[in-house]
Amino acid sequence: MKITVIGAGNVGATTAQLLANAELANEIYLVDILEGIPEGKALDMYESMPIIGSDTKVFGTNSYELTKDSDIIIQTAGLARKPGMSRDDLLVKNAEIVSSCIEQAFKYSPNAYYLIVSNPLDVMTYVAMQVTKLPRQKVFGMAGILDTARYRAFISMELGVSMQDIQALILGGHGDTMVPLVRYTTVAGIPVTDLISKERLDEIVARTAGGGGEIVKYLKTGSAYYAPSAAVVQMVESIVRDQKRILPCSVLLQGEFGYNDIVLGVPVILGRNGMEKVIELKLNDEEKALLKTSADHVKKTIEEAMALINK
Ligand code: NAI
Ligand code: 2OP
Repeated sequence: MKITVIGAGNVGATTAQLLANAELANEIYLVDILEGIPEGKALDMYESMPIIGSDTKVFGTNSYELTKDSDIIIQTAGLARKPGMSRDDLLVKNAEIVSSCIEQAFKYSPNAYYLIVSNPLDVMTYVAMQVTKLPRQKVFGMAGILDTARYRAFISMELGVSMQDIQALILGGHGDTMVPLVRYTTVAGIPVTDLISKERLDEIVARTAGGGGEIVKYLKTGSAYYAPSAAVVQMVESIVRDQKRILPCSVLLQGEFGYNDIVLGVPVILGRNGMEKVIELKLNDEEKALLKTSADHVKKTIEEAMALINK
């Protein structure tokens, strides 16, 4: 297994380190435009492997040539949010960065899976699909696992119970319009609505939707990366170990949930064949309306991105 992580910043470097620690690849290539940064970070990680007890080799580079025949490409290069910015404010610059990185990576690894992280996430995943022309089984984005993890952590804090017992699902775009499905949230099998009042749940849902912004406000110079990197690793592990986990990921919809030609977060099966299946579930009228608001927003941003790229 050979994995390339494009972007040696906060998310890219943390992801490479977690992947190496878990020995999910024989070789990991960290790519960035900055001189020396990917090489330095990669060598530092390589030198930590004897202590960790992993035989993963980590290399840093400015060139895509060395990434040839990667099995998985993880795209994290791009600008991150600063306080006061929305994910959509990153659109113009990141559309340019993502198309250029994916184009170069694709030249050397046409058979890889492409896991997109750069924001605005759903739109950047769509951009990567346009550049590679690969089917949706091979190009998908990470956001739903992160959003769901935040929601699960907040419910665990509220109830003082193990996070492992909290099962939940968030649909829609990675933004303020995401759709946490309270009706499908359980704590050791018990509906969360039996344990937490509607008023408190509404507050938890609102905190989840603003979860990325909450971290940006604290950090001031960038956005979250520990939980995002852990989420990427969960997706990679499901593919590498063919776990067939059901995870919320951003994928191109082809009729599911009533949508076409749009990338949105939905539950999917991830395994050795990439995004193996979209799991459709029945939504009530309120959930459908929330998903439509989210989809309308993503669709509009995709159109803006396509206009920029085709200019
Ligand atoms: P960062 O600023 O720490 O790292 C970004 C890296 O990309 C920098 O090292 C920069 O030199 C590199 N870069 C910029 N242009 C490049 C190019 N053309 N080729 C190669 N490398 C290039 O940012 P961070 O925190 O790592 O975030 C990266 C991206 O991931 C941002 O767009 C952020 O919004 C997004 N993100 C998405 C999440 C999600 O849930 N989908 C979660 C967290 C971050
Ligand atoms: C987040 O939700 C930055 O989109 C990223 O933290």
